[in-house]
Amino acid sequence: MPEFFPLEIGVVENITPNSVSLTFKIPEDKKEAFRFKPGQYITLKTNINGAEVRRSYSICSAADDPGITVGVKKVADGTFSVYANEELSAGSEIEVHPPEGRFTFDAANDPGNTVVAFAAGSGITPVMSIMKAVLKDTDRDFILVYGNKTLEETMFYKDIMSLKERYGNRLEIQFLYSRTQENDAIFGRIERSTVNYILKNKLDSAGDAVFYLCGPEGMINNVSETLKEKGVASDRIKFELFSSDDSGEAPSDVPEGKTQVKVTVDDEEFTLLMDRKKRVLDAVLDNDIDAPYSCQGGICSSCIARVKKGKAEMVKNQILTDSEVQEGLILTCQSHPLSSELEIDYDDV
Ligand code: FES
Repeated sequence: MPEFFPLEIGVVENITPNSVSLTFKIPEDKKEAFRFKPGQYITLKTNINGAEVRRSYSICSAADDPGITVGVKKVADGTFSVYANEELSAGSEIEVHPPEGRFTFDAANDPGNTVVAFAAGSGITPVMSIMKAVLKDTDRDFILVYGNKTLEETMFYKDIMSLKERYGNRLEIQFLYSRTQENDAIFGRIERSTVNYILKNKLDSAGDAVFYLCGPEGMINNVSETLKEKGVASDRIKFELFSSDDSGEAPSDVPEGKTQVKVTVDDEEFTLLMDRKKRVLDAVLDNDIDAPYSCQGGICSSCIARVKKGKAEMVKNQILTDSEVQEGLILTCQSHPLSSELEIDYDDV
């Protein structure tokens, strides 16, 4: 399992009043480890006020850009996002985990003539990388539907407009603003009517497009349901959640009791006893086992393990496919054990 590497920040740029982009320098001997697919994310790790903090951020740069860039929007009361916006500067060093993630564009295998992205707020970050790859490496058209509160808070606005200048009719952009009226923009949020409008007015055939959705859960559900109602096949709809409404509580049907858990990670085996009302990843980390994780909210996919014995159930799963679940994969940050014994393997995924 790849580890974290210390990387130096080359450039910090204020891209809106409340967000920055951080560009990491990638030394020659780390280039292979940090090669990425458009849409992937990196996990940053640091100590803030004596506690270790990890956060995942999607890569917004193109594969051939110098360095890897992520966008970080300051979240009210956020720990890392406030630190990144207020404390980090060029020359700062931070631990970075190599790129991961399944919300990716694959120029060789993705079908369709058109790529359509629905992004809200900081959900634009992976879409930036995907959009650059589609426009540069393929002859497909790209339609970007991008919702924000105001134009001022719109991350990467200038970069998007320069892509428009460069690629002309191959890039269609529809901005939405929920707090201000702007020329050529729709007033409001991305909702069902937005999807209908795009399908009717901007796309010749929904059947020949691939859709990327990135933003909060409500937007993703609305857009994907509307697309499916219009006949778009599920395998042409890819999404990445940027926030989850996980309460952290165990569902009432998780039985009381303890489970003996055997954990394999990095070829080492550990055994622990855990309360079934607790999530597997939490118990693993409480036992100082160095398992992979990042968001702890069912969003990033870092914490996948394979169940080798016993049974575990996920509170929520918006990442693994049905067949992956059937073959025993779980998001450990979302899982409660249901059996008296459980064996999980982080290496066999
Ligand atoms: S840690 Fe991100 S999905 Fe589990």
